[in-house]
Amino acid sequence: MATPCAIPEALAASLETARHVCVLTGAGVSAESGVPTFRDARRGLWAKYEPQQLATPAAFAAQPGLVWDWYRWRRGLVAAAEPNAGHRALAALEQRVPVFTLITQNVDGLHQRAGNTAVIEFHGNLFVDRCVAEGTVVDGTLGGDLPRCPACGAATRPGVVWFGEAIPEAALQAAYGAASDCDMFMSIGTSSLVYPAAGLVDIAREGGAVTVEVNPQPTDERAGFDYVLIGRSGAVLPKLLESVHERQCPQQSEST
Ligand code: OAD
Repeated sequence: MATPCAIPEALAASLETARHVCVLTGAGVSAESGVPTFRDARRGLWAKYEPQQLATPAAFAAQPGLVWDWYRWRRGLVAAAEPNAGHRALAALEQRVPVFTLITQNVDGLHQRAGNTAVIEFHGNLFVDRCVAEGTVVDGTLGGDLPRCPACGAATRPGVVWFGEAIPEAALQAAYGAASDCDMFMSIGTSSLVYPAAGLVDIAREGGAVTVEVNPQPTDERAGFDYVLIGRSGAVLPKLLESVHERQCPQQSEST
């Protein structure tokens, strides 16, 4: 069912009674905060840069300075950004649902800044530095253009998942567990092209969850979703939240 804006009554009812809501977010959720997405043709990050030159272990080995410059630029961009209405609605939703799991492919930390408490960072975090030799988290404030691990002297790298790298095992297992346990699964602001994240909805569906997509341009996966809410997450998610609020507190909603 594709819906241009309004929240279907049956979806609001399912959300109100859901025991465990699992949400997967992608770059689209941060677009309204001014953080470019990856694949949008005109403004996406990958439209200006070749990912294989910047986001692979081989690229880092060949040109660590270039890779660091790019990540420092992204850090500055994100540090200047603020969570938007979509982030805030997801933080509020966490308070209304018995069990709420937020899995994000984003590395920007905006969900946490909006107030979500338990976030599974599927692709790591832009603001974490790791030792390439030991994988340990190191203090990123130390060192110059090519920082080194204070403990062993090896190079340090941004703590994100690059192309060709595995998802951190703890994040993978937590996400699989949440997707198979939830009774509602939402895929928000993601092109659903990158696996294993894009496969989580299949696990949720097999477990019997109601599935929802939120995207201004529904993805190729849309046929598989029970509900497709067409629109920006900053517009749709506050409406979704409001639809639950109206059902949980009808008198309060009438008077406000
Ligand atoms: P993409 O850039 O592939 O997709 C962004 C999606 O957001 C598209 O489907 C847009 O239609 C949608 N979108 C744009 N504006 C939106 C808005 N205001 N509200 C809701 N949706 C909006 O980004 P991801 O799917 O996150 O991985 O990309 C997945 C992974 O590919 C990234 O985590 C990254 C990248 O390579 C790594 O770096 C490992």
